[in-house]
Amino acid sequence: MARFHDLTVTDIHKTIRDAVVVTLKPDTPDDFDFTPGQYLTFKHDFEGEELRRNYSICAGKDDGILQIGIKRVDGGTFSTWANTDLQVGDTLQAMPPQGRFHTPNEAGTGKNYLGFAGGSGITPVLSILKTVLKREMDSSFTLVYANRGVNSIMFREELEDLKNTYMGRFNVIHVLESDTQEADLFTGRVDAEKCKTLFAKWIDIASVDTAYICGPKPMMLTISAALKDHGLSKEQIKFELFGAEQQGRAKSKAEVVANARAVGAEASIIIDGTARSVTIAKGQTLLEAALAHDLDAPFACRAGVCSTCKCKVLEGEVDMRANHALEDYEVEQGYVLSCQSVPVSATVVVEYE
Ligand code: FES
Repeated sequence: MARFHDLTVTDIHKTIRDAVVVTLKPDTPDDFDFTPGQYLTFKHDFEGEELRRNYSICAGKDDGILQIGIKRVDGGTFSTWANTDLQVGDTLQAMPPQGRFHTPNEAGTGKNYLGFAGGSGITPVLSILKTVLKREMDSSFTLVYANRGVNSIMFREELEDLKNTYMGRFNVIHVLESDTQEADLFTGRVDAEKCKTLFAKWIDIASVDTAYICGPKPMMLTISAALKDHGLSKEQIKFELFGAEQQGRAKSKAEVVANARAVGAEASIIIDGTARSVTIAKGQTLLEAALAHDLDAPFACRAGVCSTCKCKVLEGEVDMRANHALEDYEVEQGYVLSCQSVPVSATVVVEYE
């Protein structure tokens, strides 16, 4: 099972006023051999309270460094600390890279990639596009990058440099919500209408092999629907959901159903091959029960987004309130997100692998 490792901060620089790019040197480099598009789960203690946050790797596979981007969010304890207090020489603790927001790089296939990023959603997309441009000499990448204004464009200079280096293979379209640009098309939100116009005038959607989307959920759903409307299949669309939007949302139908069916249960939770018996209260999730019994179960977002808390149900039945992370085939194999799963049978046996 994934464990936390120490990483030393070797560089910090601002990419915009409220976002830092942090370079990290892992004590155990082999554990951090990442795939572009993956993220790291960090933990840090804030006055006795441990917080965990996921940040995507923004470095390309061939950059020779491990780098993440952290944008400060309003009221965000971890991101504010990283932007104001984190220093070169500090030690951070993170789990090895996770996430499946990627497709294999295949040289010689001449693919056309399309990326949509909103705000700090650029971080994994940047890692992917840098790797594609470097490793797939005959592939091209078009990026549509949505931001509030020019001042909030993360990695603006780096993207310009990439455009110059890979002229003809990399194109970036900035869509700004509040700053007016020459063409109306590039001003406003990336909604269904904007996608339609982009696909009619700027992007040959029929030639796109794979599309990557990373940003806030409403934007992602809109773009994903627009891509499907214009002929892309589900398999051609990869997306990465950012977790913050989960907070304060109304209860979903699945959540209401799960809560209604929930029962108290006697559970056996297996971690690293060792089984522990725990009692799970009615409505308590597997993860909550594991942590309440001081078990070292993995987790990060607690919102059904990241899949860090994935475990397998070996016996009994649980209901998942939300799942924004597991693929259908994983659910069919019995995997669940423990932060979202409540027992609906009197006994359950689950294993963290
Ligand atoms: Fe992220 Fe459960 S902790 S999905």
